Amino acid sequence: MPSRENEALYGGKQSGRITIRDIAAAKARGERWPMITAYDALTAGIFDETGIPVLLVGDSAGNVVFGYDTTVPVTVDDLIPLTAAVVRGTKRAMVVADLPFGSYQGSPAQALETASRFMKEAGAHAVKLEGGIRVARHVEELVAAGVPVMGHLGLTPQSVHAFGGFRVQGRGEDGERLLRDAKALEAAGAFSVVLEGIPAALGARITETLHVPTIGIGAGPDCDAQVLVWQDMAGLSPRAPKFVKRYADVRAVLREAAAAYAAEVASGAFPSEEYSYK
Ligand code: KIV
Repeated sequence: MPSRENEALYGGKQSGRITIRDIAAAKARGERWPMITAYDALTAGIFDETGIPVLLVGDSAGNVVFGYDTTVPVTVDDLIPLTAAVVRGTKRAMVVADLPFGSYQGSPAQALETASRFMKEAGAHAVKLEGGIRVARHVEELVAAGVPVMGHLGLTPQSVHAFGGFRVQGRGEDGERLLRDAKALEAAGAFSVVLEGIPAALGARITETLHVPTIGIGAGPDCDAQVLVWQDMAGLSPRAPKFVKRYADVRAVLREAAAAYAAEVASGAFPSEEYSYK
């Protein structure tokens, strides 16, 4: 019998949830794997059936679920029901909950209090937070308490106002700072690090340096894993950044379906006898 840790994260038949041990083993094997966001039970179930090993309930819900311009207004109370739905809709994936802006930066104790809510009330298996050296103590506190932590560096959307807009980070000498941040997260016990909106060469360098996997989003092809917001990937969002590849045009499919339904209701063609009770 192969051990769970020898089974591919993507495409393996493993029963039970993916754990941080499986993720560490994938890095050791040099396996690349996909992560995707999810915010509800039905779509999460589809991604789980596809075999995607890690689902992120991102605070990108602020943009794609709640209609804000940034992730800054998102609250813990917004994300807990979405996280619970994703956990209920899946069997195999590890579900990672994003800690929203203002819910962890204050202190390691605040981070633990928020992470505990996600784990107890929503059933999250891990949490993600943004920042490097400045949140290393927070990560240590969480890990010591038994909370798996995913870090997030680079174009961290919660700092959009400090960056003066959505701009690529880590160019030139700033790359050294990001490398130090990545090492600090690893030393604090993070089990993986998301790298967002940085030059591909820096993504490769951080990936080569760290022993834990990097998960890229606009960080080039050399990261251990990749993540996309599902509505961007599937073409539901009206527009998406340069790093997004559209794998479908769900927006067009839904528009056509809605227009066909509306026209049939207006003409009286729906519901026909077939869709009516005798
Ligand atoms: O909130 C989110 O969806 C994210 C990913 C895009 C990494 O943080």
